[in-house]
Amino acid sequence: MDIFEPAKIGTLELKNRLIRSATAERMADDAGRPEPPLVEMYTALARGGVGLIITGHAYVHPTGKAHPAMTGVYDDELIPALQTLSETVHREGGKVVMQINHAGRKTSAEVIGQRPLGPSPVAQTKGAPRPQEMTEQQIEEIIHAFALAAGRAKAAGFDGVQIHAAHGYLINQFNSPAANWRRDRWGKDAVSRMRFFERVAAAIRDEVGDEYPVLTKLGIQDFVRDGMTLYDGLEIVRHLADWGIDGVEISGGLGSANTRKDILRPEDEAYFLSQARMARRVTDLPIILVGGIRSREVMERILEEGTADFISMSRPFIREPDLPRRLQAGQQKSTCVSCNRCWPPPGEYGVKCRYEE
Ligand SMILES: Cc1cc2nc3c(=O)[nH]c(=O)nc-3n(C[C@H](O)[C@H](O)[C@H](O)COP(=O)(O)O)c2cc1C
Repeated sequence: MDIFEPAKIGTLELKNRLIRSATAERMADDAGRPEPPLVEMYTALARGGVGLIITGHAYVHPTGKAHPAMTGVYDDELIPALQTLSETVHREGGKVVMQINHAGRKTSAEVIGQRPLGPSPVAQTKGAPRPQEMTEQQIEEIIHAFALAAGRAKAAGFDGVQIHAAHGYLINQFNSPAANWRRDRWGKDAVSRMRFFERVAAAIRDEVGDEYPVLTKLGIQDFVRDGMTLYDGLEIVRHLADWGIDGVEISGGLGSANTRKDILRPEDEAYFLSQARMARRVTDLPIILVGGIRSREVMERILEEGTADFISMSRPFIREPDLPRRLQAGQQKSTCVSCNRCWPPPGEYGVKCRYEE
């Protein structure tokens, strides 16, 4: 099946099946306003022919900032600066969805100026500081913050939002029995653990109306001891359409399992394919697959077998923002070697490909 065939996610019409997966660019000022290098990056991506750009995660509340130079969407005053991104992409004929996030415990007092919040006072890793258990009031405040953030993305001209429910951030923490030890209606069993996510999705839908595209990136499995199993994840997938979600991107890992290294052979590619195949059996929503996809052959096979409707990549687009044009011109695969050196070292600004440095 052709990766350049148009398709839709809800009301969102995309010119092809290729998506730039959310990638924290670390190109914002201290208040979270995108800076010129980010606008340049989006210009290059849009010119490069990708069907959809999903922004790096943007924090919906000051307590949800994950790291320095992260883009923010927690205040109406940020809307004009955010608009520069959507305008740039639209000018180049592209589409852009904002990924919205709250870091929960996956941040530090250094970044947010207070003890991080979490569903339970369970540290992310042994020896790490324990987060503050969220009160009912804080839970309601953050749900509301997600809804307001989605409204701001819409006001700033973005073509949709993507709720970040993966990679160990707050929603993944609520979903996960390894991070959520609550005994109340937010955690006493599997249904309670997904309540936070359900409420966030419903609040967003209320805020943006029926037509506006709302996607999610789901950590379908934690890959840690006592974490969410694939079956827990599938239970969430089953509910997404009822919660008003238009499309789901399948990822995984409460820790760092989402960015595997050294993807060099076709056999190493698409490392969440088996999970996506199971998801396909429990939902009719458009499925976006991410995780180590590199070659046209693998992309086409995934679309052909019907497991996913869209192919999403992060690291390849850091190295080759014009990868879709290159594929169209006959290049067979991304030249990304998945070395993971694109993450900026501490204190450095901005993602970039550092493979040859
Ligand atoms: C530098 C960097 C930043 C990332 N930032 C985000 C992010 O903001 N939100 C998100 O959902 N995933 C983020 N990811 C994960 C990617 O979107 C993707 O799920 C993962 O890298 C696997 O896809 P790939 O093999 O195509 O890179 C990031 C990955 C990298 C390498």
